[in-house]
Amino acid sequence: MSSEIGVFEAMYQLRAMRRFKPDPVPDELMWKILEAGTKAPSGSNSQVWRFIVVRDGDGKRFIQERYKRAWDLYAQANLEAAAKNPPPAEELGPRLRMARAAAELAEHLHEAPVLLLVCMVPRADLPTVEGRRRSPAGLYASVFPAVQNILLAVRALGLGSVLTTLHLLYEDEIKERLGIPAEVDTVALLPIGAYHPDSFRRVHTSPEDAVQGFLDLGARWMVPMHYGTFRLSYEPVDEPVERLKADAKRRGIERKICVLEEGVTKFFE
Ligand SMILES: Cc1cc2nc3c(=O)[nH]c(=O)nc-3n(C[C@H](O)[C@H](O)[C@H](O)COP(=O)(O)O)c2cc1C
Repeated sequence: MSSEIGVFEAMYQLRAMRRFKPDPVPDELMWKILEAGTKAPSGSNSQVWRFIVVRDGDGKRFIQERYKRAWDLYAQANLEAAAKNPPPAEELGPRLRMARAAAELAEHLHEAPVLLLVCMVPRADLPTVEGRRRSPAGLYASVFPAVQNILLAVRALGLGSVLTTLHLLYEDEIKERLGIPAEVDTVALLPIGAYHPDSFRRVHTSPEDAVQGFLDLGARWMVPMHYGTFRLSYEPVDEPVERLKADAKRRGIERKICVLEEGVTKFFE
């Protein structure tokens, strides 16, 4: 039986994942992911996409350093813009959460097992309609369907990714380092890996959130249910409950967590 999810579930669960576990992404999965990209439509069936899979530590570090520099500039520009034109109060929380995750990505990008550069080769053979400017939108429109297919395939296989473009600020340096010809565009940079923490499910609570909820409620006992019954990704099936216990211990409430064992009766006082 296949453990892959359906296309609608993949679309609904497709969120920007910016924290990755170091577990390697097997070649076999990478091929499947790239093949999904090649099934996308492209103008005149030009298939102008090219994929560069960066796995080596030095290469990833080189890209991360440039990405981080770009993020710092972008974050500063955002701060200045927000100071001039403050966002509505209700948007502050979500914006801050995203900024925190994006900053963490910039710091740890190289730790994702794979950095995938989706590139676009030029089309010298494309005819232009006389007197009309050729819009770059028409060119990029032949690559982003492939990017979206890749993101969906990544999700369907239980992995995580996020579409990023900040590397473009230092694109020339990255192209030189990877030997990418000057006329080729690096359209998107996708870190790919098993996600961390496991928060794909729309209604899912992480073990640490559950401990916080328990504390907020001031309850006497916590009895975790359903742990070990399904996997969210490639994490070991007992990982959520182990994380729950570890966080409870850290907060000094481990005795209030009651993990039931099959066939064992437990009385609550
Ligand atoms: C064209 C484009 C460029 C993006 N560039 C970046 C980026 O450089 N860094 C980043 O962390 N996220 C980037 N994102 C991800 C968006 O922030 C993300 O898709 C959006 O916040 C929605 O998040 P969600 O899918 O979790 O709802 C980009 C998304 C798109 C479509």
